[in-house]
Amino acid sequence: MFSLEKFDLKLETEIIGRNFIYCEEIDSTNTELLSNKQLYKKTGTILLAEKQLKGKGRRDRTWQSAKGLNLTFSVLITKDILTEININHLNLATSIAVASAIEKHYQLRTELKWPNDVLIEGKKVSGILIESIIKGNKTERTVIGIGINLNQMAFHGDFNFPPTSLKLETKSDIDRENFLAEVLNILEVLFFKLEHQSQSVLQEWRSKCNMIGGKITITDGQQTKSGIFFDIDPDGYLLLKNNGNLEKIHFGDVSVI
Ligand code: BTN
Repeated sequence: MFSLEKFDLKLETEIIGRNFIYCEEIDSTNTELLSNKQLYKKTGTILLAEKQLKGKGRRDRTWQSAKGLNLTFSVLITKDILTEININHLNLATSIAVASAIEKHYQLRTELKWPNDVLIEGKKVSGILIESIIKGNKTERTVIGIGINLNQMAFHGDFNFPPTSLKLETKSDIDRENFLAEVLNILEVLFFKLEHQSQSVLQEWRSKCNMIGGKITITDGQQTKSGIFFDIDPDGYLLLKNNGNLEKIHFGDVSVI
């Protein structure tokens, strides 16, 4: 069970999480918040599900998470505050929020993998999927879907990256309510920062990404490209250096060579 009272006591935000919807089972929290325009209207609305039947991952993968043990939720952003926000920046900021909450509470070292994975010792503890509805050239609604493995002790199936959970890493039970509140508290501060100081958020992301400067491979479907992870550009795209040329990468899975 998830205690809303306990969560609320720790929540210090103005907007994010102030409208909170809890459900036992749903196909996907992203799909629900994105598609049901009449029901969900407020920016900052959180939909948390104990179990997703069709949890979605990046690049058409699935997101598997055991019922009631972890956090699977989405944050809604509607067009009132959306006009200026860059989706890449949202991706980077969200991964910083999850990583910072882990470091603050559990003294574990985290590492960020472009564009938004959070790793502990090379294993994935959290994944983020941002989806939008765009009409013409205007973004109508955006959802930030976040999956964080907290108390799951075993993972079965095929994973593109080995998974882990905070319980596996710390050997102790993780308090879901406190942890979620902490992630949202940090997330809101970062979102406000994105409005006028986005480059300082990108700088924070760089400081948590050990892959910059190293040799990487980027896989996009059947295509792979290798080179040096030179940097991220001001828009949050990855810059790959190869034979003296810099290429801007928009999508793909990064792995270290
Ligand atoms: C990835 O790393 O592939 C992204 C995983 C994103 C999973 C979250 S769980 C909550 C939200 N609802 C979904 O269907 N997916 C995201």
